[in-house]
Amino acid sequence: MIDTHNKTLNASYDADERYKMWEQYRNDISQFITKVSLIGKSVLIVGAGNLNDIELKIFESCQVTLLDIDVESVERGILRQGFSLDEFTLIEGDLTGLNHTVFFEKLDETTTESLEAFKEVEIDIHLETYDMIVVLPIYTQLLLPQLVKLNLTYEGLNIYLPLIQNRIEKVNTLLRNHIIDNGYMVVLSDVLEYNARSEEGQYLNANRYQNIILEEFYNSYLDNFGHGLGSYGIYEMNHYCRTVFKDFFVWPFDQKRIMLIEAQIMKKNSD
Ligand SMILES: C[S@@+](CC[C@H](N)C(=O)[O-])C[C@H]1O[C@@H](n2cnc3c(N)ncnc32)[C@H](O)[C@@H]1O
Repeated sequence: MIDTHNKTLNASYDADERYKMWEQYRNDISQFITKVSLIGKSVLIVGAGNLNDIELKIFESCQVTLLDIDVESVERGILRQGFSLDEFTLIEGDLTGLNHTVFFEKLDETTTESLEAFKEVEIDIHLETYDMIVVLPIYTQLLLPQLVKLNLTYEGLNIYLPLIQNRIEKVNTLLRNHIIDNGYMVVLSDVLEYNARSEEGQYLNANRYQNIILEEFYNSYLDNFGHGLGSYGIYEMNHYCRTVFKDFFVWPFDQKRIMLIEAQIMKKNSD
């Protein structure tokens, strides 16, 4: 279910066209990551997908592992950027840990109590230990889009939120456990989304290189409405890692949607 959903989604648009459309955004993100030296580092990139939002060439002297539930998209992404597949290690894995459980089969019978058992499920992905982990925007993609597609009522959807929060914590814990002490954790997350033509969308776009304005906009949103899943992923990571660099980016996602991305380079505290 989770694998089919993401494979269908990743193949649902023209990835070559999006590669062109995201060129400036991809360059800005890649430049942000190079604020720290990448020379000779082992790097894990999580949520690699079509690889349209990151330049592989910045990792030229690194040993790079790419993780996604949809490895075919990652392979096409590598070739699109002019590299060969044997230069990378690929891992196909499900970060929710629920793809091969009865979670989706038993949705009709789900209760708040029955969801408790799924909170214990571990993520079955074998990782090495890395000097740097880059998390591309994935937090908002974990379970929620698949559940929304099932046309649940608002109340029906609500009971799953603690489980989604729990899955984000599991993902972050897994990643933290596979980074060296003082290694870099780079986290990018889509924290707000607007219609590109809305007043807010146009405001963000007009100020896309004004870090202070973007941060003020975001803080005022947080004051009024609180955290969403995208911001929770970063918030949780901040409890265990200290922020070294922070910035905001405006992602021109498609013709209709625009997203505000929070990006942080963190250092994992020594245990
Ligand atoms: C919004 S995309 C990130 C953009 C992507 N780097 C690109 O350039 O296309 C999120 C990625 O997370 C992956 N993903 C979603 N749910 C996942 C899961 N449960 N486990 C592993 N990867 C997942 C999707 O397949 C997708 O490639």
